[in-house]
Amino acid sequence: MSRVLVCDPIDDEGIRMLKDGGFEVDYKPSITAAELKQAIKDYDGVVVRSRTKITREIIEAGSRLRAIGRAGVGLDNIDLQAAKERGIKVVNAPESLTQSVVEIVIGFMIALSRYISNADKTMKEGKWLKTQYMGNELYGKTLGIVGFGRIGRGVAKVAKAIGMKIIAYDVIPIDEKAKQELEVEQKSLDDVLKESDFVTLHVPGGQGTYHLIDLQKLKLMKQTAFIINTSRGNVIKEDDLVYAIKNRIITGAALDVFEVEPPTNKELFSLERVILTPHIGGETAEAQRLAATLTVQRLMEALKA
Ligand SMILES: NC(=O)c1ccc[n+]([C@@H]2O[C@H](COP(=O)([O-])OP(=O)(O)OC[C@H]3O[C@@H](n4cnc5c(N)ncnc54)[C@H](O)[C@@H]3O)[C@@H](O)[C@H]2O)c1
Repeated sequence: MSRVLVCDPIDDEGIRMLKDGGFEVDYKPSITAAELKQAIKDYDGVVVRSRTKITREIIEAGSRLRAIGRAGVGLDNIDLQAAKERGIKVVNAPESLTQSVVEIVIGFMIALSRYISNADKTMKEGKWLKTQYMGNELYGKTLGIVGFGRIGRGVAKVAKAIGMKIIAYDVIPIDEKAKQELEVEQKSLDDVLKESDFVTLHVPGGQGTYHLIDLQKLKLMKQTAFIINTSRGNVIKEDDLVYAIKNRIITGAALDVFEVEPPTNKELFSLERVILTPHIGGETAEAQRLAATLTVQRLMEALKA
């Protein structure tokens, strides 16, 4: 019987599927790196989220390891080269978190334009600042989407329904069908930044997008504009963003991801028109269930192949 070790907390449905699929499952959601190095030799498959690092050392200790499942997006915590060298299959479920991230982005736009976190905070301090919170509607405003993949398209669909004008930047051409259905116009990055009331980032992390948005780019944006980052922290040069907001180059931001997590840049905490969330874009019951079930499905297929 094939054995699978689940190293991080995943939805129960994923565990049930493994058992129903005839696998022997050990669930050790708080296993340490040292314990894992000892234990891995007994397993054919391993499932992780982001906490557990599947390093070269772990892979080399996994003498019968044939497949690694990452329940979610991104494979930064897995040494892909080491896995490839040993013919170990790596599977994940990048589409599982899309809808949850789409919804938090829409939430951020509404919260930013209507002062929701500021109003909540001051009311709880006993204040009633009704006249200070004159906001703006999203209807009729321009949304600039940087990275028009799964999440970018999902955001476009909802934003269109709200009545926003959508422009997008991507390194690859946007297909005609999407352009028509979502009424989106593809533009250069500089034009997207210049014309948008909200800019939302949905590019992958890595070399190609490192500090894509720095002070020079922020200076292209409208003074009234907001930027939202739910992609990867280092897509924005954080110090430049703090400078741009402090100096009223742009109005504000919503950040779910940071250059260092948890963030060490304390200046971020003092900016009034900035909403911060601890990388919770994909933290919904629905997304986590989908991440677990899709990943387990793919892991079982890999182990049975
Ligand atoms: N906050 C969270 O919890 C959370 C959850 C899920 C995903 N994410 C992140 O969201 C981002 C988008 O995810 P996705 O599923 O939509 O990815 P995706 O791969 O479907 O889309 C990415 C798009 O970016 C484009 N792109 C690549 N390099 C680019 C560049 N240099 N400039 C412009 N466009 C570029 C690609 O062509 C593609 O269309 C990723 O960074 C992912 O890690 C965050």
